[in-house]
Amino acid sequence: MPAIQLLPDLLISQIAAGEVIERPASALKELLENSLDAGATDITVQLENGGIKLLRIRDNGKGIAKDELKLALMRHATSKIASLDDLQSVASMGFRGEALASMAAVAQLTLSSRTHVDTHGWKVEAIDGQLSEPEPTNQALGTTVEIRELYFNTPARRKFLKTEATEFAYCEEAFKRVALSRPEVAFSLQHNGKIIWQLAAGQEAIKRVAAVLGDAFGQAAVEVSRNATSLSLQGLAALPAYSRANRDAQYFFVNGRFVRDKVASHALRQAYQDILHHQRHPAFVLFLDIPPEQVDVNVHPAKSEVRFRESQGIHQFIFHSVQQALAIPAQTANQTPQQSATFVPMQQNMSLGIAQSNAAYRVGETYSEKGKNVFDEGNYGTATVLNIASTESKQASPFAHHDQTIPPLGFALAQLSGIYILAQNQHGLIVVDMHAAHERIVYEKLKSSLDAEKISTQPLLIPVSFYADTLDVATAEAEHAALHQLGFDIAPLSPTTLAVRAMPALLKQSEAENAAREVLNELRDFGASRVLTERRNELLGTLACHAAVRANRILSVTEMNALLREMENTERSGQCNHGRPTWFQVTLKELDKMFMRGQ
Ligand SMILES: Nc1ncnc2c1ncn2[C@@H]1O[C@H](COP(=O)(O)OP(=O)(O)OP(=O)(O)O)[C@@H](O)[C@H]1O
Ligand SMILES: [Mg+2]
Repeated sequence: MPAIQLLPDLLISQIAAGEVIERPASALKELLENSLDAGATDITVQLENGGIKLLRIRDNGKGIAKDELKLALMRHATSKIASLDDLQSVASMGFRGEALASMAAVAQLTLSSRTHVDTHGWKVEAIDGQLSEPEPTNQALGTTVEIRELYFNTPARRKFLKTEATEFAYCEEAFKRVALSRPEVAFSLQHNGKIIWQLAAGQEAIKRVAAVLGDAFGQAAVEVSRNATSLSLQGLAALPAYSRANRDAQYFFVNGRFVRDKVASHALRQAYQDILHHQRHPAFVLFLDIPPEQVDVNVHPAKSEVRFRESQGIHQFIFHSVQQALAIPAQTANQTPQQSATFVPMQQNMSLGIAQSNAAYRVGETYSEKGKNVFDEGNYGTATVLNIASTESKQASPFAHHDQTIPPLGFALAQLSGIYILAQNQHGLIVVDMHAAHERIVYEKLKSSLDAEKISTQPLLIPVSFYADTLDVATAEAEHAALHQLGFDIAPLSPTTLAVRAMPALLKQSEAENAAREVLNELRDFGASRVLTERRNELLGTLACHAAVRANRILSVTEMNALLREMENTERSGQCNHGRPTWFQVTLKELDKMFMRGQ
């Protein structure tokens, strides 16, 4: 036997199939994509035993002509591209011409189709890679593909398949991804004869998201909608309280294709960094549209990865779009008009706070500036915060309310346990964690003043001196400029004493030593350039925590109201720096329910 020989065709396909068709779910994904590429508007999926025993998918697309049926099952046969130029600007989901051939190599496959010129359908079968001649069959306009006994002829591979329930779960996930990306198409999914999903055609993208991921996601999400010259990012990003312990609610699509992309993941992680606890994962459904020639989709056999020509620009675009959408301060969200005011009458369109309650979690039950309720028209409390142009939000002043109106976070009533502020707005009771809220306010102020290079400093009448080791003293001397930029003036008094002579006005003088130590430690461990860039927000967060009002500080009603008004004006004020909520709304409706009033 010669040392080197050409492999038989079937074996080549079986090897290739290992990459493209890992499990029933990957076959399902390929078949769904083929149906979409064929222009189908109605797609039905039937699975048996997790898709291992049977996977049948029927579409009403343009079909395949009788004399092309066998071709469709051959390797490197595609109708979607013909040249390298086509590949570089490919807009269809498929283009490699190998999905059906791979399936035919590792399963018993039947392909039936009927085009609009046929009077009846035709089918071909592939068994052990052998293709039968086309035979007439009963088939409506469109195509049906049946895959039976996946990997029956490659037992080693079949062993890797998991239980029926697990394989079904993977299939369902593949189905959801495609269904999310094409709301104009009707989809249904059956498993072992039971209908699992039925999604009507022509849904608005946002409704499809709610249908697939559930209302809770919709209610906790803000809309992301940003267009640049050739880029667009649309979709929903959930606020931190909807975050997950894993990445299972992350859907990112590039030109309609679900992908796992490092650039996008990193940008999204960063966009959430400030408001999400580091052990939680954000939830989102986002669609990036980009000219096809700016993205390479031919990176991975299953096309689950892409490569951007301008990855830096894409990163920035995603980061800014999502960060801005998440930054909605309480005051920008609009009032829901039909909520009956229980005490002072309110203006329509007045801003409303973000409402959160445990029973029915709602971070932001609001309407867009057009008054559009996204998820559930007419049902109070189920809409979502919509992204409102930031310029607009910046102009709005919380003090611009009509005398008779109530600000979003209402007016303070009392302080509870030295920890919470209780306030009343038109919906009922607001409970604020005063430390968490204040911390966020100070943090945001520190960030924006550092950005503008004008952290206002306060000189200390009596400098605060403290014992420091020689390294601290050396750091204070060497990093004088960085300290100055951060609003500190720290000078050595002796080889083992440092004195804080000035500090940021936003911080408390009583915290001078702690704050100075914090900053010096950072500078010592990481150096000025890192402290002022990548570590900056963490440091400002720590400083803000020192500066924020502590529990058990008694606040006057005026002080409490001032804090509420500042919250309304502060970006991201719905969460503290660590991603915990800063306030909750308990509506009168919820109180009524608790007391069984009107039931
Ligand atoms: N549901 C369908 N309706 C109409 N034509 C189809 C359908 N499925 C497949 N085809 C035809 O069969 C060809 C081969 O399909 P296959 O999935 O193997 O390759 P592809 O979609 O071109 O590329 P890829 O391997 O990247 O998916 C397609 O190019 C298309 O012309
Ligand atoms: Mg295909």
